[in-house]
Amino acid sequence: MSIKPTYLTLKGEGLGLKRDSRMVVSNADITVSSTGLTGLIGANGSGKTSLISMLAGLTVPDYGVVSLTDHAGRVASRKQIGLMMQKPVIMRRSVYRNCEYVLSALNIPLSERADRIMAGLALMELEHYAQQDARTLSSGEQQRMALARVLMASPGVLLCDEATSNLDPKSTQMIEAVIMDKAAAGMPVLWVTHNLAQLRRLARQVVFMQKGEILANQNLDDFFHTPACSDVAEYLAYERI
Ligand SMILES: Nc1ncnc2c1ncn2[C@@H]1O[C@H](COP(=O)(O)OP(=O)(O)OP(=O)(O)O)[C@@H](O)[C@H]1O
Ligand SMILES: [Mg+2]
Repeated sequence: MSIKPTYLTLKGEGLGLKRDSRMVVSNADITVSSTGLTGLIGANGSGKTSLISMLAGLTVPDYGVVSLTDHAGRVASRKQIGLMMQKPVIMRRSVYRNCEYVLSALNIPLSERADRIMAGLALMELEHYAQQDARTLSSGEQQRMALARVLMASPGVLLCDEATSNLDPKSTQMIEAVIMDKAAAGMPVLWVTHNLAQLRRLARQVVFMQKGEILANQNLDDFFHTPACSDVAEYLAYERI
């Protein structure tokens, strides 16, 4: 079934988060809009998940503001943010019921749910697992289910935290193809990855974090060829080792 989504602009301005009297995110400005996929990278612990969590409304920032607006600048509901977390929440129920639970929480009409669920599962080649207990799926299958589940809600903006980290090359390719398709159709996507080859394949813009700060926000070519600072160059150098 085809559902025409309304794409939104998600903006974080001056975002800061303090944990154990330490700033884990400082003064972060970021915009996720319909201009192609934005990659978010940085070393372990640099603050990527914390930033995504604030953008998604799961964590209240200690500083700064998050806004979500449509093309006319009208404020949109946070429910339209699709979030795939680093560790997907999998409930003790079938794959189908896991998906249905999310659609129901988003007030998707009952009459649409079955079609959306089966189309979403088919997209990730999971339709044969619909009645299986979701907790018995392999970790890669759980990741595919989590992405299917978020996409079947037709989000206005999509935030994915290491969506392909446990996946084999075929599943990774499957997810990349779906994501490229969505981004090309205008879906704003923020994509966290440690995989620089994948970043090259998917991203138009790259945001680089280090120790909680955004040190670079550049288009893909510039990021790799004329990095904004020596920290980026140093980070990229590990790829060549
Ligand atoms: N609730 C918390 N209490 C204390 N420290 C926290 C808390 N949440 C996050 N942190 C710290 O904030 C920093 C950033 O964590 P975050 O999970 O955002 O990093 P990340 O960039 O997503 O890393 P990774 O690539 O490993 O997923 C880390 O040093 C982490 O230990
Ligand atoms: Mg993380």
